[in-house]
Amino acid sequence: MDEITKVTHIDNVKLTGDKKAVTIIDQTQLPNRMVYLTMDTEEDCYDAILKLKVRGAPAIGIFAGYAMYVLCQKYAHKPYGEFAAEFHRQKEYLNSSRPTAVNLSWALKRMEQVVTDNAGKSVSEIVELLGAECAKIHQEDIEMCRKISEYGLSLIKEGDGILTHCNAGPLATSRYGTAIGPMLLGKERGMNFRVFADETRPLLQGARLTSFELQKAGIDVTLICDNMASIVMRNGWVQACFVGCDRIAANGDFANKIGTSGVAILAKHYGIPFYTLGPSSTIDMNCPDGAHIEIELRDPEEIKEKFYAEPMALKEVKCYNPAFDVTDHELLSGIVTEKGIVRPPFDVNLKKLFGN
Ligand code: MRU
Repeated sequence: MDEITKVTHIDNVKLTGDKKAVTIIDQTQLPNRMVYLTMDTEEDCYDAILKLKVRGAPAIGIFAGYAMYVLCQKYAHKPYGEFAAEFHRQKEYLNSSRPTAVNLSWALKRMEQVVTDNAGKSVSEIVELLGAECAKIHQEDIEMCRKISEYGLSLIKEGDGILTHCNAGPLATSRYGTAIGPMLLGKERGMNFRVFADETRPLLQGARLTSFELQKAGIDVTLICDNMASIVMRNGWVQACFVGCDRIAANGDFANKIGTSGVAILAKHYGIPFYTLGPSSTIDMNCPDGAHIEIELRDPEEIKEKFYAEPMALKEVKCYNPAFDVTDHELLSGIVTEKGIVRPPFDVNLKKLFGN
């Protein structure tokens, strides 16, 4: 297997052979160690999402689907009413782990829909249908990422420099990823790009994950600190910005990793096209605009201590640590989805493709 195939076939989330547990790559250990974690309790599944052992909007959704299937097998002997009530409780519990990426609630809702739609069937039949549903969620993501990569590739040409933020590659999704997918697909076809990966403070997804994936795939990647994006753009090295997304509102505003909106503002200043790439599972047509997106706030320790040999700020210093920000749709050149590239006016064009 060549290097590029290895990267695009990373199994970051999967069921164990007996389907009684779910296995993930512990993304907090990368790039230093490839550690697989296997879990079958609700506490471990919740913790895996909260602590970003599994992360990236689509990967969280896929994981949540598998987790519900694994968990519900333990009470499959109960009558339907009790089974459905316990399923609902666990679904709400997992859903409370992280608020911003809509893929989590989207996948959990899909799983619960199977339970409610099949109320007349035996619980064992329902469990079987749940197994099929979580596999379908995963398979659909593989297909959507591939299509997004094709559309994204149509936006760039041989030799282009692309700047990306956070990690929207195979580890965050399945197979090709979203924002990283066009470069992986292009490389497979013999094209060459130069990618600038923002390190992405404070949790370093760009440094630890994106530069890891691209380097392993043999793509020319240069890691920069977040505050270096401006000079790289000013130098004329960036022809397009590709970023992922955690929730796209109906008007095109979108939440992505903290720092994304700053990159978009810089790109506008330098006249560089700025795209977000994401599957329909990340589009929330029930959310009118970015002001309605809940932004996750995380532990200040991530800013002051994590990854440092010793604390880099006084214990008593206040910290504000939002995990995401909202990029205004006016800064966006396009939204690359599996159904095509959505251009402004986003409210009208998103509705045409994704309206209920
Ligand atoms: O906090 P994270 O690491 O889960 O945040 C992830 C991002 O913001 C990604 O860019 C986004 O989920 C897109 S993944 C295809």
